[in-house]
Amino acid sequence: MRKVCRLAREVLDICAAAVRPGITTDELDEIAHKACIERDSYPSPLNYVNFPKSICTSINEVICHGIPDQRKLVDGDIINLDITLYHGGFHGDLNETYYVGDKAKANPDTVRVVETSRDCLDEAIKLVKPGMLFRDPGNVIEKLAKQRNCSVVRTYIGHGINQLFHCNPNVPHYAKNKAVGVAKPGMCFTIEPMINLGTYKDTTWPDKWTSTTSDGKMSAQFEHTLLVTEGGVEVLTARFPDSPGGRMPIPGIDRNGEGGKKQI
Ligand code: MF3
Ligand code: CO
Ligand code: CO
Repeated sequence: MRKVCRLAREVLDICAAAVRPGITTDELDEIAHKACIERDSYPSPLNYVNFPKSICTSINEVICHGIPDQRKLVDGDIINLDITLYHGGFHGDLNETYYVGDKAKANPDTVRVVETSRDCLDEAIKLVKPGMLFRDPGNVIEKLAKQRNCSVVRTYIGHGINQLFHCNPNVPHYAKNKAVGVAKPGMCFTIEPMINLGTYKDTTWPDKWTSTTSDGKMSAQFEHTLLVTEGGVEVLTARFPDSPGGRMPIPGIDRNGEGGKKQI
């Protein structure tokens, strides 16, 4: 799990470094596919329940599971790249949301939803240790999202991951959920909150994969694969010091001059 998750992080970072106005999501898919093959890895999404491409590319109001196509990225878009690799018999899964073009000029509401989703994941990870109930992360995630005037998607949840892409436990991101189970050393699972500017409600396209917000407002997501250790948690898909992306200050919420929170 450590190795596949490190390889998945490498592929995400290579793909993210190519994000710029004018590139198509098909081109990002090809970059990621080749980077997987170079690492003796299979892109887990490819042909998973008929998913047709190697990665998920979710732009603006797309919540998750966007299918790469010929659409070019434009300045002011946000794009989530969700990468899963299969290597040595195990899956490693992570995603991040990136600003397209000059992020210093990003719309304040866009920054609010992106950085809230990043912060929700980081806050949830702080809970993870032996004894944590899988129903607990949703409470801290929804609390922070509400404080920032954002909503939490309920249809898609974090999941166990190992020799299987998706397995128990279920890890919902919303408050007062009834998820079953308690974290024990050696368990691996994801947390991957999807946070919206408007309604939490989602709509699925006729392609049976692409999920968008029902009101067309922006949505953002971050995901890590985690290992429960005796002492707490290991973030198996953690950023490298030179990973692309990274936190922006939220206008009117983070104090001026403060670089923002420390990132996982
Ligand atoms: N990587 C996604 C997740 O976080 C699942 C994508 S399934 C796919 O669980 F088929 F769309 F790739
Ligand atoms: Co996942
Ligand atoms: Co994923």
